[in-house]
Amino acid sequence: MTEALVSVRNVSVDYTVQTGKLNAVENISIEIYAGDFVALLGPSGCGKTTLLNVIAGYHEPTSGQALLRGKPIRGPGRERGVIFQRTNLYPWLNVKDNILFGPKLGSYDELEIQESYDHLMDVIGLRNYQKNYPFELSGGMQQRVAIARTLIQKPDILLMDEPFGALDAVNRDSLQTFMRDLWYEEKLTVFMVTHDIDEALMLANRVIVMGQRPGQIIKRMELVFNHKTLRDSGYIPELDPAFMTAKREILEALQSEKA
Ligand SMILES: Nc1ncnc2c1ncn2[C@@H]1O[C@H](COP(=O)(O)OP(=O)(O)OP(=O)(O)O)[C@@H](O)[C@H]1O
Ligand SMILES: [Mg+2]
Repeated sequence: MTEALVSVRNVSVDYTVQTGKLNAVENISIEIYAGDFVALLGPSGCGKTTLLNVIAGYHEPTSGQALLRGKPIRGPGRERGVIFQRTNLYPWLNVKDNILFGPKLGSYDELEIQESYDHLMDVIGLRNYQKNYPFELSGGMQQRVAIARTLIQKPDILLMDEPFGALDAVNRDSLQTFMRDLWYEEKLTVFMVTHDIDEALMLANRVIVMGQRPGQIIKRMELVFNHKTLRDSGYIPELDPAFMTAKREILEALQSEKA
């Protein structure tokens, strides 16, 4: 069997709060394989960001461990590119300089970076905006720049925390389609946190559903209608009856938990 790219093994995270301990994540195990698009779905406050932060290396678990290619994660690293709801682009740098900022800090091959940059311009479709500043771009365009800025570092996995949560409906739609094509065409591995069921179903080949705090997994699904091989012939997952069935199953899981 192939080794998982990321393994989360029996991870629990407690926060210290005024009233004592808050158990944000409770004994969670997840495996993410190269080429997966995993969506982590769950209600607000269930511990999604906490779990993503453990994988990103921003937060140490209270117990259990997270591994990258079998090695314990001890901090952030370039192999894990993180995308947040807020893009954190540098307002004083134009699109091009924002994307090239990271590579310029390290010892990168100039030609290789230029090629990657050129390719990413095609990918994000912002070639005519290279000299523009973030404030001149729509929220959706800014998020594309943020994604390109991360991808130029060639991460093994993208960790995305509600990346489209702050966008209006039109921009969100277009970014979701963009992300779906990107995963497919660039052969990415993605772990995305969202509380939008449709978004998870539209993008992921695996969905993990967390219940109310203390965060536990209440459902794991393999979405056959999102498997890559189906994408070739203009197939539209949202129109597959299996899409609605999966949605109903997720809603039922979330509701049965509340009852
Ligand atoms: N640094 C912290 N200190 C104390 N409690 C925290 C901290 N970070 C998160 N929490 C608490 O842990 C729980 C899980 O938070 P987390 O941010 O992981 O949830 P989430 O699923 O990402 O929520 P949302 O969908 O609203 O972003 C919440 O009850 C939150 O208040
Ligand atoms: Mg969160």
